[in-house]
Amino acid sequence: MKKLYLFGNWKMNMTEESAKEWCRTFPQAESHIEAAVFVPALLLSTVAMHRPQGLALGMQDISSYPAGAHTGENDGVLARTMGASYCLCGHSERRAAQKEDDLIVAQKAMRALEVGLTPVICVGESLQEREKGLTLKVIDRQLERLKDLRGDYMIAYEPLWAIGTGLTATAEQAEQVCSHIKTLQEVPCLYGGSVNEHNGAELFACEHIDGGLVGGASLNAQSFAAIVKHS
Ligand code: PGA
Repeated sequence: MKKLYLFGNWKMNMTEESAKEWCRTFPQAESHIEAAVFVPALLLSTVAMHRPQGLALGMQDISSYPAGAHTGENDGVLARTMGASYCLCGHSERRAAQKEDDLIVAQKAMRALEVGLTPVICVGESLQEREKGLTLKVIDRQLERLKDLRGDYMIAYEPLWAIGTGLTATAEQAEQVCSHIKTLQEVPCLYGGSVNEHNGAELFACEHIDGGLVGGASLNAQSFAAIVKHS
């Protein structure tokens, strides 16, 4: 059985109470599944304390700076000591709202590696870029900045048009881009964009898709776990 990554991105959702309830109801994952949740920074300690055994913890973003005068930033070293082992870098919502460009994303990924977190770097094209046939070009540009990264990291292919829209890339579309990514960088490659318990199995059966980064469907522990039920 291939190793599968089931990663949940809670985004800016959940409360202390709902996070504890989530941890209480998340079923133990099978041994070939590496499950992790990327929680709001303010919930790191709650989830670290209540998470079930075997569930890894991630940050949704990291400061590219070491501890110091950086108001509002989240320190990777602190997150690491709180139990995080992964960090999202360059999620499309941050690229859009916080204007994070490929250089900043690469700096954040570098910082994550420095402090011992595994960066999960998000890439993906807009609908307009896909329609113009530019998908692979956009991915190449986003990956270009990462070529000096040394260490264990992962890529999440998340087409912008599939995030939170209910529109999932077909398994064929996702596989095409993930296999392209793997010809450039030999790292685990996840697919993200409206993954749920109905489409997970088909996506994860693809040779070059190593798992999923799941937003909306990760908010309920049982539905989240069910995504890999048949994988
Ligand atoms: P979604 O989000 O599963 O709600 O589409 C995925 C993501 O943004 O990582």
